[in-house]
Amino acid sequence: MITKQPSHQFERIFSTAHLHAPKNLDTDSISQLSKWQQSKLPLYLEIGAGKGKHALLFAKENPESRLIAVERTSEKFTAFDKQASVDILENLIYIHADAIAFTAHFIAPNTLDGAFILYPNPEPSNKNQRWLNMPFFEFLLSRLKPNAQIVLASNITAYIDEACARLDEVWQLPYQKRVIDKQSARTHFEIKYLARGEHCQELLIKKPEGYRTRFDDFFAKGDM
Ligand SMILES: C[S@@+](CC[C@H](N)C(=O)[O-])C[C@H]1O[C@@H](n2cnc3c(N)ncnc32)[C@H](O)[C@@H]1O
Repeated sequence: MITKQPSHQFERIFSTAHLHAPKNLDTDSISQLSKWQQSKLPLYLEIGAGKGKHALLFAKENPESRLIAVERTSEKFTAFDKQASVDILENLIYIHADAIAFTAHFIAPNTLDGAFILYPNPEPSNKNQRWLNMPFFEFLLSRLKPNAQIVLASNITAYIDEACARLDEVWQLPYQKRVIDKQSARTHFEIKYLARGEHCQELLIKKPEGYRTRFDDFFAKGDM
């Protein structure tokens, strides 16, 4: 890690000291991932991919891009695995792991063209567990290339409003806010919320050229 001044004002710092590498990952997927990170084709990360609806759609619709989709809940991952085994897509790697530990151990800095966090758990009783309140968010930013984008979607207006405040006041990142079309059906949760008539929004958060984090030169042990 280096001590240069970051572009943001988030004080706490992410630590990998006690973060173990996820176990039992498929070795073929990990070696494929390493090759993907050295290739020039666009590479995306989805955090909390659920049953994989968005991941499968994205991989089908973007054959020239590659996606790593991470889900930590066994039941959801099993459903994802079942669908992905039917619909084999060469440009999709799906991983059963905690996305924080996985990213810290296996994603190199400056490699991602974008990330998706679609309908994250709102964490009503622990706001420090929301993605933009976590030190990990800085680490995630360091894995993005300049001009890469994070898509953050939620059905909870307060979650989006809080994220906008953090982006303006702390992360100092530009973003666009959009209302999600009622016909959109990217994920299981999106379908459920829109069917109930809920107001779903997304933020397209851009990492500008020259944006600095304290992890820009940090390579984890798993990086190959
Ligand atoms: C509300 S669900 C949304 C799932 C999916 N994105 C959708 O929209 O249908 C949030 C998901 O994020 C997953 N999740 C939360 N924290 C995670 C983490 N640290 N690593 C991986 N998955 C995580 C949960 O297991 C859950 O499946």
